[in-house]
Amino acid sequence: MKEFKIVNNIEEMGRAGAAVIAAAIREKPDLVLGLATGSSPISLYKELIRMHKEEGLDFSKVRTVNLDEYVGLTADHPQSYRAFMNENLFNHVNIDINNTHLPDGMAENLDEEVAGYDKLVGELGGIEVQVLGIGPNGHIGFNEPSDEFSNHTLVVPLTNETIEANSRFFSGADEVPRKAITLDIKHIMQAKQIVLVATKNKEAILREALQGKITPQVPASVLQMHHAVVVVFSAEE
Ligand code: GLP
Repeated sequence: MKEFKIVNNIEEMGRAGAAVIAAAIREKPDLVLGLATGSSPISLYKELIRMHKEEGLDFSKVRTVNLDEYVGLTADHPQSYRAFMNENLFNHVNIDINNTHLPDGMAENLDEEVAGYDKLVGELGGIEVQVLGIGPNGHIGFNEPSDEFSNHTLVVPLTNETIEANSRFFSGADEVPRKAITLDIKHIMQAKQIVLVATKNKEAILREALQGKITPQVPASVLQMHHAVVVVFSAEE
């Protein structure tokens, strides 16, 4: 790990995370940026939008690869991760939407879809900077606690804990899809740099992930082995 920053609140967390991303885009305008959903990165995306509008941060050549998508939600479903990304970032910056990639949760053949996603990431040359949040059970992307660290994009059944945690975005737990497609741990670990944002409510799991045993039962613990992770922790939820 490289850096652990504690900041006062969510806005500061967003600013600190976005500063890393913006510096990388300025250095390499066609950066391959790995993106995450969930509530944690929203302030980071807000700050990137502000930097685009007020400071001319240019997304015109940036390529993005999202970590995951629910299986069974159409792209225009309000809770699909495609809709989340459009709403929270893509619609507000000058990115070419054709350069933004998420797994297709409606693909008829999921085996082909996951193989195709691996191929796509390979063709892009891998992820250069990856944004991450952390799930309450230590998941990253939708890599749930498991017996092994995943090494290719995969379809995963969501744990009850994740279904419960994410039900706040749906009308109830019954509405939450039971499966998702997620980029694997290996691809995440191959990112040249990682920015993980987490708020106060994740303190215990973050501590376990960063200071506890490295185990696929706490997927984020693998980050201890990455040499360029910046963790930004907000002391407020
Ligand atoms: C989802 C996403 C994760 C995210 C997690 C935490 O399950 N697949 O990528 O990190 O939620 O979300 P939040 O930041 O809303 O707690």
